[in-house]
Formats: sequence, structure tokens, C-alpha cells
Amino acid sequence: MTHPQQAVPAPDELVRRHATQGATLMVILHAIQDEVGYVPPAVVPALARALSLSRAEVHGVITYYHHFRSEPPARVTVQLCRAEACRSMGTEALAQHVEGHTGCKFDNGHHTETELESVFCLGQCALSPSMMINGELYAKVTPQKFDRLYADARARTNAGTEETA
Ligand code: FES
Repeated sequence: MTHPQQAVPAPDELVRRHATQGATLMVILHAIQDEVGYVPPAVVPALARALSLSRAEVHGVITYYHHFRSEPPARVTVQLCRAEACRSMGTEALAQHVEGHTGCKFDNGHHTETELESVFCLGQCALSPSMMINGELYAKVTPQKFDRLYADARARTNAGTEETA
């Protein structure tokens, strides 16, 4: 997948690459989102032309399915478990710390930089509080541990940008 900070190919180029013979709108949208991390609104006219659909039809499909996003994903996604076992181990205090440290709010859409999401049980109840950062699971997270993990995740995404830029 293209990194969020990388240049996204031109809309016509993206559509040309993925609108292969017989590919349905859904298949093409998935392929575009897999490649660049989201479906840039600028591809809608090109897709409509390629598939002989109206722009409204293409737009309707993108907005109907929650899977598709119209803006780049956050560079760091933090999913904090807020279910019972984790709550009993201080997840709510940790959530406050995370918000203060990142300057973002939980479940409030995403910043370009960081997205905070509440989840309910990551299957690590015995090792709570648990969270995932960019898809990696962490257990027994303390505020200090979070600060370290978050700094590492940000450093990794910055490194990824430099490597591929
Ligand atoms: S309740 Fe948090 S991992 Fe199960």
C-alpha cells in the first residue's frame, strides 16, 4: 500500500491500472484502496467514465460501504480496549493519558497524524490493559509504555516515508 504521505498516482492512471476487463466497480474500488489506502474523490469522474456510470452512482457506492474511506488513513492508529477486564485495570485513566499525549480524541474521526479508536476486547483480558498500534497487539500497557510504543510507531512511519519517497 502506498504510504499516506506518498504522492498518489493521477486519477486516470489509477483507474487505468485497476479497471481491467470485466472488473466490477466494487473490485476496482477495493484495488484502489488497497493500493493507496483510500479512494481519492478525484477518481470518481474517471471511474464513472470507465464504467459508463453516473458520478452519483459511483459516489453512492463509496459512501454506502463504510469500508471505503475518502481521505488518507492516519499514520498511527491506536485501538484501545475499553471492555470490562481492561477497564478494571485502568483503561480509562490510560485513555485520558493517550488523549493528552497525542492531542487527539477517541472515536472522533482521524487527524492526519493519529487516529484513536475504542475497541471492545482484544482477547488479552488476562494481560490488560491491552491495545493495538498499527495492527500490533500490546499488553499490560502503562502510560510510560504507551509513550514509548507511540514514539516507535511514529518513527517507523516517518522512516517508511523516507525510504519510499
Ligand atoms: S477486555 Fe480488554 S482484552 Fe479483553
